[in-house]
Parts: sequence; structure tokens; C-alpha cells
Amino acid sequence: FHDQWDVQIRPLIDAIDSLRFMGIDEDLALPAIAVIGDQSSGKSSVLEALSGVGLPRGSGIVTRCPLELKLRKLKPGMKWKATISYKDTRIDFDDPSLVEGSVIAAQDDLAGKGVGICSTLIRLEIMSPDVCDLTLIDLPGITRVPVSGQPEDISVQIKNLILHFIEKSETINLVVVPCNVDIATTEALRMAQEVDPEGKRTLAILTKPDLVDRGTEGGILAIALNQVIPLKKGYIMVKCRGQQQIDEKTSLAEATRMEKDFFKQHQCFSSLLDEGKATTVFLAAELTRELVTHIKDSLPRLSDQVNMKLAEVKTLLSQHKSGPPEDPQLKKEFFIDIITQFSDKIKSLVSGEVINDEN
Ligand code: GDP
Ligand code: NA
Ligand code: MG
Repeated sequence: FHDQWDVQIRPLIDAIDSLRFMGIDEDLALPAIAVIGDQSSGKSSVLEALSGVGLPRGSGIVTRCPLELKLRKLKPGMKWKATISYKDTRIDFDDPSLVEGSVIAAQDDLAGKGVGICSTLIRLEIMSPDVCDLTLIDLPGITRVPVSGQPEDISVQIKNLILHFIEKSETINLVVVPCNVDIATTEALRMAQEVDPEGKRTLAILTKPDLVDRGTEGGILAIALNQVIPLKKGYIMVKCRGQQQIDEKTSLAEATRMEKDFFKQHQCFSSLLDEGKATTVFLAAELTRELVTHIKDSLPRLSDQVNMKLAEVKTLLSQHKSGPPEDPQLKKEFFIDIITQFSDKIKSLVSGEVINDEN
């Protein structure tokens, strides 16, 4: 899987990164993968399994701010390092075991300790030889009723926050649905279908197959085989670490082995393995394919934007063609003008780190 990434994705990502470096701005929205679903459906667990990065998980509202997890693959032998940034804060660290705590601290800082949510983006960039070049977005889960301490409109707040991310046509939406709930009534699936009616960038993930109620396996298998609520890209079933495995500190590698064994031995779901519709490894491969297609599709749009930027710069250049005036006072004003424009540009770039419609 990692090799496949190196060959297919790396050159594309590098090209896109250099575009970004040239000042193509944030809203150009390069492909990212967002997870949406009900609270505790397993969103953070899926991201963790995909990325190999330990994220805060658990029951109740754990993810309280949008988290952009940017993974950058380093050359073999290079040392793991990470940076977490939000608002004016930026912290570098080089110990993977600090990830979870640093995300929690950032959330507490932004959304207060407790159950509040906040639309400010937390960026976590992880550079390591063991990750793939991927940008993943973890989002707070959809809730229906506020718990004590949450505002009345929490459900609307969360939905708006989620929409901000999933409506971008460059985002691949992973809808996370546990096997042990009624999938037909899943709000996340409805939202994904609303922003992507053709289902071109929506992939459904069925989680917690180990927790299905006895006797319901057949119905769930039919869903997984895309026979009940048909989606263009269908479903993939994964088993992530449960609370007990987390408490026992089961490693991700071990969890991946256990996941495969689980499906192999399952009397009903084992058929999904052969069909390429189960395990996080299959999910990762599927996402690789999706990303490649997606990046290729967005290249024409990227090139349009580059051309627009070029035209803008040309206009600016022509305005200053004559160079600074001779008169010392006018000369001073001329340069102050240029510096002010430059500093405004920088400011608007920096403020792009915060979601624009934040309230
Ligand atoms: P989120 O709120 O959607 O981000 O959900 P989390 O990833 O925090 O997971 C909620 C809880 O479900 C955690 O205790 C996880 O350990 C557990 N969980 C996630 N996936 C699975 C799974 O496939 N099987 C089991 N048994 N538990 C899971
Ligand atoms: Na949770
Ligand atoms: Mg979460």
C-alpha cells in the first residue's frame, strides 16, 4: 500500500504542494478525506487505522473541533516529527505519544473544557517515513439532543460545521455508520447525499461489525453488498479497536491482524473479504484509487486558477511598470503602498487558517 502511494501519488502531491507554495490559496481545496457520522460511530478510529496516528477516541463527544491531519511521508531513516497549530499557537514535537494529548489540549484551548464545540480548525502535520501522503479531516459527530452544558442549537452548529467541509467538491466524504444502528435513518448519509447527489465522492464505511445483534447479520450483509441503500461507490466494512483493545493497548499493527482474522472467521461477513469490501487495508487501497482519480479530475481546475493568478500578477506588474517616481516624497509613498499591499496579502493568507464563517 505504501509503495503504491510512493509511485502514484507522491509526484502529484509534490506538484500540488509546489502550486500551494507559489501562493495558490487554501480555498483551492486540494483533495482531502473527511469523515462524517454520528457521535461514537467510529470516525476517529477509522482515521486512526488509516493513518497509523493515535487520535483521541472514546464514548461521548471527543472530537470537538475540526482536525486536519496532514500526513507527509519522509525518506526512510528520517525522524518522526509533528507540528500542531491553531490560531496563533504553533507547537513542534517529536514524540508520537504526545499526539493525543496535544489535540486534547488544543481542543480545550479553543472550545473550553467540557462538551462545547468550536469551528476553528486545528492543524496537525505529521512527518514520518511510516505514513502516506494524505490529508484527513476528523469532525465532531452529529448529535440530536444537547447534553447538559451544550447550547440548544448544538445539532445545527455541528451540521453547519460538517457542511463547510463536505460540500467542497474536492473532498472525499467517508460516511461512517456502525453496523448496530438503523442505517436507513443515518443523518450523515443523508447529508452526504445532499452535497453529492450523484455519489461521486461518497464512500460509506460500516464499523463495529463485532457488535452486531445476533440474527441481523444477513440484513447487514445485504447493505454491505449495496443491495439495500445503493450508493455509487458502495460500502466497506471495517473493524477497528474497541474500547477494551484500547485499554489493553493493542497496537495498530496487531489490530490490523485481528481485523483480518475476524473477517476470515466470520460465518456471514467472510464473503466480503473476497469481494474486496472489508478491512481497513482494503479501504486504504480503495481511497488511493479514489484520490488518484480525484486529483486528476481537479487538475484542469487547478490550471484555471493558476492562469487567473498569473493574469492578476501581470496586471499588478503593468501598474508599476514605470517604477518608483523621482520625487523623494512620492518615492516614499510608492514603497509604503507596495509594502502595505504585501502585508495585506500576508494577513489574508494567515487568516485563511481559520474558517471564514466562524462565529
Ligand atoms: P467517533 O466519535 O465517531 O470519533 O468514534 P470513536 O472513534 O471515538 O469510537 C467510539 C468508540 O467505539 C470507541 O470506544 C472505539 O474504541 C469504539 N469502536 C470504534 N470502532 C469499533 C469497532 O469496529 N468495534 C468495536 N467493538 N468498537 C469500536
Ligand atoms: Na466519540
Ligand atoms: Mg471522534
